[in-house]
Amino acid sequence: MRSFFHVSDIGDLAAALQEAKQVKATPFAWKNLGQDKTIILIFFNSSLRTRLSSQKAALNLGMNPIVLNVGADSWKLETQLGVVMDGDKSEHLREAIPVIGSYCDIIGVRSFAGLSDREFDYAETILSQFIEYSGKPVISLESATVHPCQAFADLITIEEYKTKPRPKVVMTWAPHPRALPQAVPNSFAEWMNAADVDFVITHPEGYELDPKFVGNAKVEYDQMKALEGADFVYAKNWSCPGVTNPGDYGKILSKDMGWVVDERHMAVTDNAYFMHCLPVRRNMIVSDGVIDSPRSIVIPEAANRVVSAQVVMKRMLEGLK
Ligand code: CP
Repeated sequence: MRSFFHVSDIGDLAAALQEAKQVKATPFAWKNLGQDKTIILIFFNSSLRTRLSSQKAALNLGMNPIVLNVGADSWKLETQLGVVMDGDKSEHLREAIPVIGSYCDIIGVRSFAGLSDREFDYAETILSQFIEYSGKPVISLESATVHPCQAFADLITIEEYKTKPRPKVVMTWAPHPRALPQAVPNSFAEWMNAADVDFVITHPEGYELDPKFVGNAKVEYDQMKALEGADFVYAKNWSCPGVTNPGDYGKILSKDMGWVVDERHMAVTDNAYFMHCLPVRRNMIVSDGVIDSPRSIVIPEAANRVVSAQVVMKRMLEGLK
């Protein structure tokens, strides 16, 4: 595997889920695979789960993880091409990336969408440069438009908890005080479309995700109707993807607190499990009562981030041989 962005990069999904099961049961079985190998994890943005789970996955495989916090630990990096670098950014990605590539075997990059230029974000301009100039396998640790390690962990979790062969999974938009990227909902939609689930997306009008991620999913604007009979409720905020109105890209169009997932919403489901990628704002995205209930699986979901990262890194290491 040379890069990990999309569900197609993981190949056969059933085989990947089976491999995830093995990795979870025997996490140290491939301890020699990463011997003398280094992964550099580059963070342009904050993280708790991705930072720690990626390091843990690398250590389980015997790799040496090095974390770089861009700007805090390094020079600030310029990402735009053709600019006069007379601001606060001392180094360009064009030099930094090949240098980083010369120090490691695999690179992971967290780089959120700027949410001001849809074309720049949806072209994955920063991650594409890492692929082009590093010469090394690259993992998206949440880039402008996708968060595949999260979506893979989400699917592993659904597989573990499902009690029906084809569960109903509903991804619902929920309000948030700040404009957030679409990477998590994009990837969740992409992976659910590839999985054997009945997948429904619900959000206020104007929040339509990019059609390439929505795929064949059912979109239902009535949140309560969408949630009826759900087996899994996946809550997430996202800012306007700019599909119906490009001028609204990255904007907050609604702060309707009626969309906060609470007991009233969960009551119409089929005793659904509640999921969220975390970090989550309590009583903004989800009520205390729902996230603290026995049906909340946000902690095992987060724990599975180690498993998804380890499967991806394992495959990349196997590809280096
Ligand atoms: N879900 C997730 O990616 O969490 P962090 O932002 O803390 O890494």
